Amino acid sequence: MCGVFGYSGEEKEDLAGYILEGLKKLEYRGYDSSGIAVFKKGKVRIIKEVGELANLRKRLKGKHLSGNLGIGHTRWATHGGVTRKNAHPHTDCLGKIAVVHNGIMENYEEIKQKLLGLGHKFKSETDTEIFPHLIEEKIKKDRNLSFSEAVRLSFNQIEGLNAVCACCSDGEIVAFRKGSPLVAGLGEKGNFVSSDIPGLSCLTRKIVILEEGEGVSVTKERVVKINSKTGKRALAKETFVDMEEKEAARGNFPYFLIKEIFEQPEVVARVAASDKKEIKKAVEMIKKSWGTYFTACGTAAHSGLAATYMFSEIAKRHVNFAFGSEFPYFNDFLVPKSLLIAASQSGETMDTLEAVRAAKKKGAKVLSLVNVPSSTLTRLSDKTILLKAGPERAVLSTKSYIAKLSFFLLFAYAIAGRLNLGIKILQETSKEMVRMLKRGLEAKMKKLAKKLSGCEHIYIIGRGVNYATALEGALKIKEASYIHAEGFPAGELKHGVIALIEPGTPCFCIIAKDRAKEAVLSNAMELKSRGGYIIGISSERQSVFDVWIQVPEVGAASPIVSIIPMQLLAYHLTLIKGYNPDRPRNLAKSVTVR
Ligand code: AGP
Repeated sequence: MCGVFGYSGEEKEDLAGYILEGLKKLEYRGYDSSGIAVFKKGKVRIIKEVGELANLRKRLKGKHLSGNLGIGHTRWATHGGVTRKNAHPHTDCLGKIAVVHNGIMENYEEIKQKLLGLGHKFKSETDTEIFPHLIEEKIKKDRNLSFSEAVRLSFNQIEGLNAVCACCSDGEIVAFRKGSPLVAGLGEKGNFVSSDIPGLSCLTRKIVILEEGEGVSVTKERVVKINSKTGKRALAKETFVDMEEKEAARGNFPYFLIKEIFEQPEVVARVAASDKKEIKKAVEMIKKSWGTYFTACGTAAHSGLAATYMFSEIAKRHVNFAFGSEFPYFNDFLVPKSLLIAASQSGETMDTLEAVRAAKKKGAKVLSLVNVPSSTLTRLSDKTILLKAGPERAVLSTKSYIAKLSFFLLFAYAIAGRLNLGIKILQETSKEMVRMLKRGLEAKMKKLAKKLSGCEHIYIIGRGVNYATALEGALKIKEASYIHAEGFPAGELKHGVIALIEPGTPCFCIIAKDRAKEAVLSNAMELKSRGGYIIGISSERQSVFDVWIQVPEVGAASPIVSIIPMQLLAYHLTLIKGYNPDRPRNLAKSVTVR
């Protein structure tokens, strides 16, 4: 999950700064280290730095590196530690070719040994560094070989799922993708390469989508597609893509995470206002299927798990759920009449894409819920419902989770023939969310965060659809503050989990006014009797609560409102612990490797 960006066009006085701006939009894809390569009159300047992009900016301060060609990279380390030497870009022996890369070159060891045997010198521990030397070796052997051909042949030599972007001093960028995302863009004064479409927001709406195994040659004058197998070239056709730019900016919020949490009421209202025909088409696919499966990863998976309860209770429909990475071990009984519903904010999560490809191999149809238009998942699907949550920049998924829950709720009501009721519930919920946020929920969660910031463990229990909420709340706390948090089905406590509870152990209990209410209440009392510190997330106060976090009574939309307190808690725990809410360690926004 790295960010790749490239520009070839008119000379820029501060090309380094320009590429840095491009990388800024990709930083959510990885931020262990970063680097840029700027070409001018055949010479390349490479500047790299470990840590956040801000560290590279500091190194570039005052260095106005002008030029007309450059590439940049934000790294999420896979091969080789987080060091300046391992940061991309990497070059060949002569320093004429620079390369950035996203993915894993699975056969790099054997290739590296061969290149070492041919006298090539390496500076890093990365797999990526073999690539510029591969190109150099091919050109050395055949002086008539074009740069793009040398890149293509080198790309076909590496195994694994990769997106590689190489550039040379004569002003050409050549990039290929297999498995990892990559797009190109047509600008007014130059052309671009980027890992994904949000990376080009603000620069162009003219996007060139690269399919699996496709490559592209980008120069100042044109963008040409290249077939990686045959080398056949064709002038690239652009697709117009609108990324809601105004929402991509942080505005007056200190971090994207808190901004996106506060955007959630509007996201729910937007889903409620969806085109009914689109909802009905999606629902028709579900009704016609023989066996429906949900698959997704991480937060998106929790929305799928919640949906299985919604479909059971509201639509009386059975749905199978599996995490994306588990799906290939669970798809044996898929048949051509089956339907796979895949949910993904980025549309690039490798585990989800692999599940979709496995399902398609069985002839199943694919319906997807995706936030990023024209992403790979949208192109693999028979039908896509765009979440329209707006660009989600924080690594922690919040508003896209709420959007998925909202669509799944609409689907369930539509299957039950009560779509208008589902729309009404969402409209009401959106208004209640605004009131809840206005009523000082954040201040309350900030206060609670102060109390809990020193805890080693936090537990969360829920039943039914709010079992998924418990899992999602725990994930938010873990990935933001690094505190161990765990979500449990409330009924599982007595089967071993309750042994973990000590006096003062913080236990969140999600209690909705639904058929599980009494059972969860009694589970809360079991925790209390063993000393648990009970934090109730509920529309009604209960005597068992040590702290009551009030959420509005919104019926079946309870998982939508119940997650918000825990999102806010995660945010404030992170600030108290001195971390960056938008850049949690070891994580990236889109997990595009297996
Ligand atoms: C959630 O906060 C995480 N960022 C992560 O679990 C994420 O939801 C998961 O990687 C799936 O991403 P996707 O929605 O882009 O497929």
